[in-house]
Amino acid sequence: MNEPICGKFIVLDGPDGSGKSTQHGRLEKRLLSLGIEAVSCRDPGGTDIGNRIRSILLDFDLSEMDVNCETMLFMASRAQLASEVIRPALAVGKTVLCDRYVTSTCAYQGAAGYDPHRVIELAKYALDGLWPDVTIMLDIDPESGFGRIGRGPQHAGKNRKNGQPELFVGSQPDAMEARSIEFHRRVRAIFLELHSYYPTPVITVNAGEHVDAVEARIWEALSGVLA
Ligand code: TYD
Repeated sequence: MNEPICGKFIVLDGPDGSGKSTQHGRLEKRLLSLGIEAVSCRDPGGTDIGNRIRSILLDFDLSEMDVNCETMLFMASRAQLASEVIRPALAVGKTVLCDRYVTSTCAYQGAAGYDPHRVIELAKYALDGLWPDVTIMLDIDPESGFGRIGRGPQHAGKNRKNGQPELFVGSQPDAMEARSIEFHRRVRAIFLELHSYYPTPVITVNAGEHVDAVEARIWEALSGVLA
């Protein structure tokens, strides 16, 4: 049986290049200044087993992978993260700050053809009902997002060498970044709709603003949860 939950569970999510990592760091510092030491984690990964699954998902060309398989693997990595890291932390009253979660599977695998509503049903079983108190969705259009990270999305299957995506501007795109701009537009569109059917609140923050303004908006959005 799962332990009772006492701490707060906060997720930062959004399309590629939305600035999650920067805001994650800022939020962590801000919480610490209030005496709240947050447990930080990232999805997919965050555990040894999860990191192995992450490597299967992001280090290779996914064009051969069935979308059901892709969805189950993301969920499997998360199930491990939930039981090994998130649940135990929450059970001792710690705040958990997680980079991506089920919302990403809804958006990305949704964009690949897996119904986001079914992702939520699947998560109910895979994660034993472990939902965040709040999800902050940092919104950015794909052109601006990929402009920020300095790599461009591609048409899946093209620009590949030996089954791997070829180098872009100085660094290699992961499997998701290598998908087409249309794919990433669908990802964003699903993210923007999630607030209407996700089981717990999803608050959209415009990530196109100045980094300080985005931080302020996130803090405002969290005020109700952290009070
Ligand atoms: P990652 O390297 O963690 O970087 P970032 O979160 O900064 O983009 O990339 C994870 C990639 O995996 C990202 O493109 C989103 C994708 N993803 C999914 O497709 N489904 C999921 O369920 C999750 C959690 C991530």
